[in-house]
Amino acid sequence: MALLLETSKQNLATEIAELYQSVRARTLEIVAPLEIEDYVIQTAEFMSPPRWHIGHTSWFFETVLQKYQTGYQTYSDDFLFYFNSYYEGFGARIERPKRGTRSRPTVVETKKYRARIDEQMSRFIKQLSEREDAETILSIVRLGLEHEMQHQELLVYDIKHLLCDQFDAPMKPLPASLQSVSGMAEIEGGLVELGFGGTGVPPVSHTQDARATFAWDNEKPAHKVFLEDFQIDRAPVSNGDYLEFIKAGGYQDFRWWHSAGWAQVNQEQWQAPLYWEQQDGEWMIRDFAGLHAATDKLSEPVSHVSFLEASAYAKWAGKRLPTEAEWEKAATHSAAGFPWGEDPPNESHGNLFENGLWSTAPIGAFPNGQSADGCHQMIGDVWEWTTSDYVPYPGFKSEFDEYNDKWFVGQKVLRGGSFATPQIHIRSTYRNFFYPHERWMIGGFRCAK
Ligand SMILES: [Fe+2]
Repeated sequence: MALLLETSKQNLATEIAELYQSVRARTLEIVAPLEIEDYVIQTAEFMSPPRWHIGHTSWFFETVLQKYQTGYQTYSDDFLFYFNSYYEGFGARIERPKRGTRSRPTVVETKKYRARIDEQMSRFIKQLSEREDAETILSIVRLGLEHEMQHQELLVYDIKHLLCDQFDAPMKPLPASLQSVSGMAEIEGGLVELGFGGTGVPPVSHTQDARATFAWDNEKPAHKVFLEDFQIDRAPVSNGDYLEFIKAGGYQDFRWWHSAGWAQVNQEQWQAPLYWEQQDGEWMIRDFAGLHAATDKLSEPVSHVSFLEASAYAKWAGKRLPTEAEWEKAATHSAAGFPWGEDPPNESHGNLFENGLWSTAPIGAFPNGQSADGCHQMIGDVWEWTTSDYVPYPGFKSEFDEYNDKWFVGQKVLRGGSFATPQIHIRSTYRNFFYPHERWMIGGFRCAK
């Protein structure tokens, strides 16, 4: 028995060690096309310079070494100060809007720091299985890797804000639409199970692989909610749909907007989603591939809209946004797993980071990923706004201080992942959250009724 336990600890350690290598390498692949000057610029208060991300994700692992590696010597107090994000428990830190006001630590120093942490972490993970607390530590390392995947996605948002089409992204060509998708799916309500660990997810069912067993504390516990029958769009709202709203004067008509939305429209002079610009009276959309006429992108999901804009569109269209429970019910195949079933996502199910598009894909490009009710692209392409407030599920227990629990006020839940989300990072139960006015992330929506 003791030997068996020893072997399973060893296996887990080996799996986590492999995952560590691949996740850490991907962060560096994402930033590889950057020039050294690009790493230090902060183009808005809400974004962070790329150098900060590559240091901060290493800082996270340094806190693990500090806590669990006996005799660990802190790399540098200055680095602890600069690379801490928002953790009060880890001491003083630079304010977020000021991350771009310093040229030190330099990019070269930051990369050296990263390599040093990797070296120490690899050695640390290897000798872990001899320890009593191996599983606790491995689960924190695992959490650190999920944290890093979140920062990989943030890097894509931030690099887009920084450079957009000046960034030399290793883009693959966009797939064609294979199926026309329209109308709304009718979903039967009743008592449904929401959250991770219930019948509605594949926690360990499709594979024993440690990669498939992770979920954040905010997705737990699974619990029952009652839903009325509802309808939900089979496709995300497209640029074409949204252009109609703009042309119908949507941004000039207070009737469609929440009070906070109308105030924001006036204050920020919003007339279209972020990255849309007007040229000779025509709407254009700028993305990693360049500047395109919106009319060439009509069939792609609209992105870079805030919750406020999504809500206004829904009201104008005579619909509403779904709740997160409705979204999850629609995205869960016969009470198990992903919209298409239990298999983990692959490139034919949806547009995630591994597809390498660096862009939304046309609606209908992923028929393999559709749900039993014919809802397309629920996983991938754009995070989808819901009307639900980001609050703890009943019975919530914090598994890591200051990670998810301190954000349970004032934000809205988004579901489904985007083209910048790694495949192993997404689940139907995944709850992302942003403030209602934010739109630099890859956020879109579909409507319900
Ligand atoms: Fe972070």
